[in-house]
Amino acid sequence: MLVLGIESSCDETGVALCDSEAGLLAHALHSQISLHEEYGGVVPELASRDHLRRVLPLTRKVLLEAGRELSDLGAVAYTAGPGLAGALLVGAGFAESLAFALDVPALPIHHLEGHLLSPLLAKDAPRFPFVALLVSGGHTQLMRVTGVGQYELLGETVDDAAGEAFDKTAKLLGLPYPGGPVLSKLADQGKPGRYKLPRPMLRSGDLDFSFSGLKTAVLTLVRDGKVAATDQADLAAEFQEAVVEVLAAKAVAALKQCRMKRLVVAGGVGANRRLRQKLDEAVRKVDGRVFYPELELCTDNGAMIAFAAMLRLRAGLAPETDAGHAFSVRPRWGLETREG
Ligand code: KG4
Ligand code: ZN
Repeated sequence: MLVLGIESSCDETGVALCDSEAGLLAHALHSQISLHEEYGGVVPELASRDHLRRVLPLTRKVLLEAGRELSDLGAVAYTAGPGLAGALLVGAGFAESLAFALDVPALPIHHLEGHLLSPLLAKDAPRFPFVALLVSGGHTQLMRVTGVGQYELLGETVDDAAGEAFDKTAKLLGLPYPGGPVLSKLADQGKPGRYKLPRPMLRSGDLDFSFSGLKTAVLTLVRDGKVAATDQADLAAEFQEAVVEVLAAKAVAALKQCRMKRLVVAGGVGANRRLRQKLDEAVRKVDGRVFYPELELCTDNGAMIAFAAMLRLRAGLAPETDAGHAFSVRPRWGLETREG
């Protein structure tokens, strides 16, 4: 079966085609970075309008690339949450209308399930079961994953997500949007250790995280005039090291707790070079292995949505669809509450 996947939860419009036999056939992405840049962050209304502009041309593009027609589609999947309500509604409205017109099912997909299963699209894919570290702009979670649709929450952030901490810290250092990748590039030019930042909840004894204090610690240093412009790279490096150290320590603790050897990393922060280094080192020490999605599939994309829908269909777990194509989106939606 051929599945079209639509992602529009935040500032990227992603569209992809996945075939149950041949796998991922094509995917296309439009990033809204240049649109939001001048505001220093995502403007939800602008995001929705841009998704509306992009979704149809991107759909045409993937069909053309894969040499398929609309009439070949067996299902249309879309991100139903979590994310920005207006942005989600654009993808949902488009997908449900198209499915209605083609008389095929529309499949609402959880954005984090897309991220979580995306490493299975890589050439060297992990087998179930595994521990997943989900590190995105909105979430930081450790999950025990025993199969498609079987996700148990082990721990999560009690305040800011890791990506959010990167973005907010970048902003207060005066770096341009999108903060995470820019801050991490700056960090790679600096040395950690010159400034001292806390490692929040490193020894809390559980698998939860807290990142908002780090941002405040950076703010205090900057406000007190302790960081010259030329030393920003060293502060960025220390910040990155603090986040990465805590993530790696807790990921290893989760592997031990679950008696597992495979760690899967997904979400935008999974693109961070230092995080990958640190996780590889730490997990190797416990005889484990880390699996990542292809770099281009770390951040939001349509491929992970089409793929998650296809895996769900294969597992006989297709989400319930409404024959009349009534739909709603869920801006806040916990993955672990999802029924298998
Ligand atoms: O998964 P994603 O594309 O969107 C969400 O679902 O949130 O993740 C975006 C987040 C942003 O906070 C962004 O700053 C962060 O991932 N990010 C990074 C890097 N690339 C993206 N953070 C640190 N280092 C990076 N290289
Ligand atoms: Zn995401």
